[in-house]
Amino acid sequence: MPSLHFKGKVFVENHHLAVPFHELQAVRAKGLSKKASLHDNLIVEGDNLAALKALLPTYHGKVKCIYIDPPYNTGNESWDYNDKVNSPMMCDWLGKVVDREDLTRHDKWCCMMLPRLKLLRELLRDDGAIFISIDDNEVHRLRCLMDEVFGEENFVANIVWQKMDSPKNTAMHLSQDHDYIAIYARNAETWRPNPLPRSAKMLARYKNPDNDPRGPWMLSDLAARNFYAGGRYSITTKAGRVINGPPAGSYWRVNEEKFWKLDADNRIWWGASGDTRPGIKRFLSEVRSGVPPQTFWSWRDVGSTRNAKQELSQVMAAQAAQDLFVTPKPSSLIKRILQIATDKDSIVLDSFAGSGTTAQAVLALNKEDGGNRRFVLIECEDYVDSITAERVRRVIAGVPSAKDASLQAGLGGAFSYFKLGRPMRRESLLDESKLPNYEKLAGYVFFTATGQEFEPEKIDKQTGFIGRSRLYDVFLIYEADVEKLKNMALTLREVRALPGSGNKLVFAPTKYIDGDLLHRHNVTFQQLPFEIYETVDSLDR
Ligand SMILES: C[S@@+](CC[C@H](N)C(=O)[O-])C[C@H]1O[C@@H](n2cnc3c(N)ncnc32)[C@H](O)[C@@H]1O
Repeated sequence: MPSLHFKGKVFVENHHLAVPFHELQAVRAKGLSKKASLHDNLIVEGDNLAALKALLPTYHGKVKCIYIDPPYNTGNESWDYNDKVNSPMMCDWLGKVVDREDLTRHDKWCCMMLPRLKLLRELLRDDGAIFISIDDNEVHRLRCLMDEVFGEENFVANIVWQKMDSPKNTAMHLSQDHDYIAIYARNAETWRPNPLPRSAKMLARYKNPDNDPRGPWMLSDLAARNFYAGGRYSITTKAGRVINGPPAGSYWRVNEEKFWKLDADNRIWWGASGDTRPGIKRFLSEVRSGVPPQTFWSWRDVGSTRNAKQELSQVMAAQAAQDLFVTPKPSSLIKRILQIATDKDSIVLDSFAGSGTTAQAVLALNKEDGGNRRFVLIECEDYVDSITAERVRRVIAGVPSAKDASLQAGLGGAFSYFKLGRPMRRESLLDESKLPNYEKLAGYVFFTATGQEFEPEKIDKQTGFIGRSRLYDVFLIYEADVEKLKNMALTLREVRALPGSGNKLVFAPTKYIDGDLLHRHNVTFQQLPFEIYETVDSLDR
């Protein structure tokens, strides 16, 4: 397969592996849920490379639908390449705005995207798919990157979204009226889009002029161009006129015997006069309940960029969206994606969240169909609270000026707000090659194992209890003392002493008890992270 080469590729190909896990710190005051949890609707403040990595322990293989809208790299955006890749050339790139004058701007964009796409793929469910908004500036490079990361066999389609509702009169060449949405499935062999409900316009094509008890029907031409050996016979109309076979170059779709059977079942329409060329009645009650999604999306059905700005201005009660945020997408566009690619309980991820449109679309669709989808949004700019999260707070509570009654009343729901904390490197876990103290290690293991907020005040050192997740009571058997640690293990005595009767997850240096016994006591054993032992070893020598 041909592959795309760009400056810096060799440094970023495996960069996603080198990105350290970061703590995710709950900021309760900015969320709406009483208790912050990584299993809630989420807004994460921070760079998406580190944030995606931090979400891996909780969301690996769990996300059904990813929608991203990365910088299009038009040369007019103020994005900069800021990944801490260990290369002098790339250090020179850091912190500089990528504009039209920048001769490496396409290289930088590819370097920025490649590791993020790799992490996004890790997060997708086997039956999930990713939708990426893009335009002609980078669509060809994006397709090459995606072929490399997801496999060209998993390409599904490139949607054309007609974003402009009128031509751009200031265009130098042609008025650029559309964007693309590239779709890749984790596995295109098995991924299937949901059919879309028929529009009112489509439904209006079904009528019932003969009061057929099977309900409204649409006329389907009896003649088709495909060669059909049994499809060239004469037909005498009800009024007695003989039709000498189908029009030149076409064939009746059904053979003569089948045709008269259909007629006997009142499934052939001869026109009100009984003398027109016959057609087949296709009953609405008998066709599939939806239509397959198509690759051209008109602004009339899913909104335009103009609608998106109006929508945002209305929610934020601001004069113009331009003052707030320049490139929002209409929530109806993202809702269309969700209709195609989610079930009622799917997790939806947007790691370039911008003004938070994806969250609004998720909540709106949940309210419409009683769903329980969850959103995970990541945004790095400092408007993540004042715009991204604020928009979500407002649509949840209700937007008084909204025309849409459901939005006016409030979409309901809640969310937790997290920000990226320190990297969880060994260096931060261990303090100048001393063992981490009990609380520090408890926070690390609790979070990486459960993905839930750690509450140090819940620690009970007597029993080793460090917190409760949705699935387990979590325990840590540990002391920051090398000699004691060497003799510390999970034994039957410790297991019997664990409080509570539910499922327990126990972290310990080792265990002297077999799996069957653990199982009988509802205990899952987890060895302490290997980093601890590296230090123990080095202290031991
Ligand atoms: C085109 S906008 C997305 C607009 C969004 N779809 C909406 O409807 O509002 C791209 C967003 O990605 C954010 N972004 C760019 N690079 C990022 C990064 N490395 N980490 C997190 N967010 C990033 C930008 O700050 C910007 O808000």
